Amino acid sequence: MRILVLGGTSFVGRAIVDDALREGHEVTLFNRGRTGRDLFPRTKLLLGDREEGDYSALDEGAWDAVVDVSGFVPRHVRQASDTLGDRVGRYLFISSNAAYAPGAGLWADESAPLRAPEWTTEAIGRDTYGPLKVACEQELTSRYGRRATIVRPGMLAGPHDNVNQFTYWVRRAAQGGKVVLPGDPGQPVQLLDARDLARLVVRLLEDDREGEFNAMGPAEPLTLLEMLRTCARAAGSEIEPVLVPPEAIMAAFPLVRPDRVWEQSFQRDFGRARAAGLPSTPLITTAADVLAWDRERGEPPLGVGPSAEIERTLLSYVQGR
Ligand SMILES: NC(=O)c1ccc[n+]([C@@H]2O[C@H](COP(=O)([O-])OP(=O)(O)OC[C@H]3O[C@@H](n4cnc5c(N)ncnc54)[C@H](OP(=O)(O)O)[C@@H]3O)[C@@H](O)[C@H]2O)c1
Repeated sequence: MRILVLGGTSFVGRAIVDDALREGHEVTLFNRGRTGRDLFPRTKLLLGDREEGDYSALDEGAWDAVVDVSGFVPRHVRQASDTLGDRVGRYLFISSNAAYAPGAGLWADESAPLRAPEWTTEAIGRDTYGPLKVACEQELTSRYGRRATIVRPGMLAGPHDNVNQFTYWVRRAAQGGKVVLPGDPGQPVQLLDARDLARLVVRLLEDDREGEFNAMGPAEPLTLLEMLRTCARAAGSEIEPVLVPPEAIMAAFPLVRPDRVWEQSFQRDFGRARAAGLPSTPLITTAADVLAWDRERGEPPLGVGPSAEIERTLLSYVQGR
């Protein structure tokens, strides 16, 4: 197939391009040429800037499908659709679990209510990210109808992760010793290896599947404590998880959700995607691969998680009780 990828050179898009090339598809990239410029030297790159509305590099050409990984506001989808029109067969949009309205209950599937779409701002923040994705989805389906495919991933993990929520725990578990685990150790966590998402995306295109697909993992339910122990096993390290009561939490810990917000974030049904070919890489494999990648890149600051000093303070608080 001829596949156009809007984005494709950082984390999620990079995994999709890798998968599509591995499967023998012909890929064209569209981005500004700033990120990962040397990643795919033999792949055609068309330069343009979605913020500037510059899609002129796409004025010519035809593709069996486009994968939109870099659309965050409805204008992005509108302008890409205006430019591409019927020169693409299928338009697959990477949305997010954040598109869903809260309160759908456990194991809600793709029929759960969405948030109200946001049309009045392009400022992406905690409160607007999901509603803007909903507006993108509506823009897409109004234009492409049955030729639209929407994938709503939950939290993703894997090598080249640019969000680092799981990477924090991989790195922390590898350091060994006493590890602060705040909140409820039995809290469910859903995490999907980005390479599994990529396989799903390419399968959906190959099979010409329309509609919405939740994309989560792993295959079996997972808790925070099990996740931490799996990371330690992947690293071959010895850890002693130290449970810290919620009232003592002094900083945001990645993947830890207060109250029962995890029902929204981490208990989605993804049976539809599994039936369509979503694989489930064992978490220990993802953890080992993230650890190897993180070490190879020299373990730069992650920008998430508590500092070592805050963790020490929390440990002394728990031990002094
Ligand atoms: N990480 C998660 O846990 C998670 C969960 C749910 C959903 N998602 C979704 O997954 C996607 C994450 O994407 P990613 O960053 O990993 O994707 P990516 O496709 O690997 O990287 C982003 C791409 O967009 C391009 N780009 C950025 N700004 C651009 C612009 N103004 N014009 C044209 N191209 C531009 C970048 O290249 P240049 O810089 O060279 O332009 C780069 O190729 C998002 O849609 C996000 O909502 C992620």
